[in-house]
Amino acid sequence: MTATLEPVRHAPGFTERYLLDPDVNADPYPYLNSLRDHGPVRWSPLHRAWLVTGHSQLTRVLREPAASAARVGPMMDAVPEGARGDAERAFEILSRWMVFTDAPDHRRLRQVFQEQFSARAINRYQALIERVTRALLARRAVPGRVGDLAADVAKPLPALVFARWLGVPQQHSASFWYWNARVGDLVLGAAQEEREYRTSLQSLVNLEDYLADLVRQRRAEPRDDLISAVLAGGQVGAGVSEVEFIGMLTQMAFAGGETTSNLIANAVRALLLHPDQLAAVRERPELARAVVEEAMRFDGPSKMSIRVASRDFGLDGDTVRGGDRLFLVSAAANRDPDRHPDPDRFLVTRSDTGHVGFGFGAHFCIGAALARMVARSALEVLITEYPGLRLAGTRHSWQLSLLNRSLTALPVRY
Ligand code: HEM
Repeated sequence: MTATLEPVRHAPGFTERYLLDPDVNADPYPYLNSLRDHGPVRWSPLHRAWLVTGHSQLTRVLREPAASAARVGPMMDAVPEGARGDAERAFEILSRWMVFTDAPDHRRLRQVFQEQFSARAINRYQALIERVTRALLARRAVPGRVGDLAADVAKPLPALVFARWLGVPQQHSASFWYWNARVGDLVLGAAQEEREYRTSLQSLVNLEDYLADLVRQRRAEPRDDLISAVLAGGQVGAGVSEVEFIGMLTQMAFAGGETTSNLIANAVRALLLHPDQLAAVRERPELARAVVEEAMRFDGPSKMSIRVASRDFGLDGDTVRGGDRLFLVSAAANRDPDRHPDPDRFLVTRSDTGHVGFGFGAHFCIGAALARMVARSALEVLITEYPGLRLAGTRHSWQLSLLNRSLTALPVRY
């Protein structure tokens, strides 16, 4: 791994760098901009993957049937020998995640949840989300005090909302989120040691057992939550099996929790770093919705998606070979000047809002409306009820991650 940290010179005037280089990780945009300017599609010997950084090229790949989302096999190959015990069952669960399946299976699996993620269904949770947001801020964000907004607000808010929405009782919340975080280590590549792999694989198995139990309980006694609503729809046992349904449930909290936390923290940071934009939003709090979209574009929680070519296909004059990996770097595409004028400016009044921070095409984030609502709710309360909110320091550190853009802390004065 250390050897690959060395930069690679493979075109005059351009030196390729490792995306996990700590300097690139801390502020990826200058490097991603130059990467895209030197070729929006290029083979990276360093990453052994195609780096797709242009907006139109990225959306083109996400429409390409030969760019497959099924990539659980290579993840399994990375598991160290000594941790293989739980691997088979864990990877069998992962293979039921809709994000790792292709058409036609993908369409069949996704459609089970589609109705419960519609704007109409999500709007039913607005009052609950606002209530939880206000109660949390009242408890943890005392005006005038210095605190860590990431830990005080951004992290716990989605956890509280999503556990309630999914149907996980409060008393199980700690283990539920612990298992999700360990599953995240596996899927996001943070698990490296054999022991970490073993913990992550076991956590996924625990999560499935727990959710299987919850599904049994909700079948017997429905409540006002996602699991009960999907069961009432009648597709579980018809369009998809119960095992497939539970497998997909193991994806839900993982997919939504940390990403939404990062959206809240990144959006607040961007706003507080741009006083003119903050002033505009304070004058017109209804712009909170636009702040969420611009933060998704400017410094979104997800830096890239991954695909694997199932056969050869042409892309921008190159040939992608069957088996090649593609890194679809949305963080670069969201700053493509061909798509967004003046892309490096954080501007809440943009009309060019077509970012790819929630993905694009068949796998477009199913939870986008829910994430937007939670983030907007947090921003609205912070904007309207914390007139003195400001950063307590401007040197920020970020988790080292290929996929996520995640602050380690966001010190503020409330
Ligand atoms: C898919 C980002 C919130 C559930 C995706 C994808 C992205 C993404 C980029 C596409 C992945 C790909 O094409 O490989 C985000 C961000 C979020 C967020 C940035 C927060 C700001 C949520 C929430 C949920 C959720 C709240 C559910 C509670 C999913 C699921 C998929 C997905 C199930 C797979 C969809 C499919 O394969 O058809 N998300 N997401 N996400 N997201 Fe989200």
